[in-house]
This record gives sequence, C-alpha cells and structure tokens, in this order.
Amino acid sequence: MQQNSRWHTLETAEDVAFAACRHILNAADSAVSARRKFKLVLAGGSTPEKVYRLLAGSNANWANWHIYYGDERCLPADHKDRNSLMATQVLLDKVAVPAEQIFTMPAELGPEVAAERYRQTVAEAGMFDMVLLGMGEDGHTASLFPGHQHQQDELVHAVYNSPKPPPERISISAKALSNTRELIFLITGANKQEAVNQWRSGQDLPVAGITPENPIDIYIDNAAYKP
Ligand code: 6PG
Repeated sequence: MQQNSRWHTLETAEDVAFAACRHILNAADSAVSARRKFKLVLAGGSTPEKVYRLLAGSNANWANWHIYYGDERCLPADHKDRNSLMATQVLLDKVAVPAEQIFTMPAELGPEVAAERYRQTVAEAGMFDMVLLGMGEDGHTASLFPGHQHQQDELVHAVYNSPKPPPERISISAKALSNTRELIFLITGANKQEAVNQWRSGQDLPVAGITPENPIDIYIDNAAYKP
C-alpha cells in the first residue's frame, strides 16, 4: 500500500460523493488560481457517477477545465457502456467546459490505434492536477488488471483479455496516472472489502501501483472499509 495515503472513511456512498466533490472543486480553484487551468482525469465505472452529478450542479470556472479519461472500453462512441457516455450525459453536457478541452479516448478505433492516438494527448497534457480512480473487486484500477503485463514506460496501454467486459480497452498507464498533483480513489460497496484489505495488507495489486509524489486520498464508505 502507498505509504502516503489518506483514508477518508464515510458512512454512505452519498457521503463519499459529497466529500470527493468538495475536494475536487477546491483543487480546481487552486489550480485555476495558480495556472489558469485544471487538468482532470475522469474515472470510469459506476462509482463516480454520483460525484459527476454533484459536480454538474456546482459552480466552477468550467472554461478552465481540461477533461481526460483514465481508461475506456473499445466500444462504439455512442455505446451505453462507454465511460465517456456516462460522463457526458451526467456532467459534460451540463457544464460549460469548451469542447476542445474535452479529450475523449478514441476507443472505437480499437486498442492499438486508440492507444497510439491518446499517447500524444497524454504527452501534451504533462502533469495532471487531479486524477480520479475507482477500484474493482480484484484490485484493478482504470484498465490495469492483475497479471496483465505492459511496457512500464508507455503512457497509454492497449488492453486485451480484460477480465471485466468488454475484453478490449485502453488505459492510461500507472506511470502517467501517477504524474499528478492530486489523486483520489473512490471506493464504495461491500463487494470491495476483500480487495481493500489485500491492498492495505501490502499485496501487489494494480491499485497499489499508482504512486504519485504527493499523498493520495481514498474516499471510502463503511461498507467497503472493514479492516
Ligand atoms: C472501467 C473502470 C474500472 C472501474 C472499476 C470499478 O472502465 O470499468 O475504469 O476500473 O473503476 O471496475 O467499477 P465500479 O465503480 O462500477 O465498481
């Protein structure tokens, strides 16, 4: 487990969403004041949806936000299971982030071409201000799965044989996800307990491989946190 990790245990998934939303908005304010830009990497899966809904109802300097994705499923752009579709419907369609500052992964092009394209995007982004990540029941995060081998210095990986459907995905690498000023894990639900305990007991899970210089923040509900 990352040494410099701050665990925020909260009663419910709603409490987790409120606390994380507040943290993100504060980070955005600091980044925009300091650099006139807030580079945010969105998490996939279902857990972040509550946070995105709260953000959509918040005041922020949306014109200064730059949106990236941590991973994506290689499905048609309008497919219901695309991470980008959920984020767009719940957040991006409701706030004034300029379209040219929303960097959707072209996952519909297939793992190789999409990963190659997005490596350019990540290289141009440089250090992120905030990375959001979820965690799966096997300790995966983004589309970095236990047992999968990747070139460590790649910025974006083409992913095959994902144990979580669909099998083909692309994912920003652990190295590039760790190149961030702040990082938040969002973890809720009893089905995550075992992986959380394995992570905390030092098992080498993908979630433990995200190691930014600054401390990481884990927002977790009581259902997932049973040490
Ligand atoms: C994906 C995600 C994946 C997700 C975890 C948790 O595309 O599936 O990026 O890493 O964060 O699987 O998913 P839930 O939040 O739905 O439990």
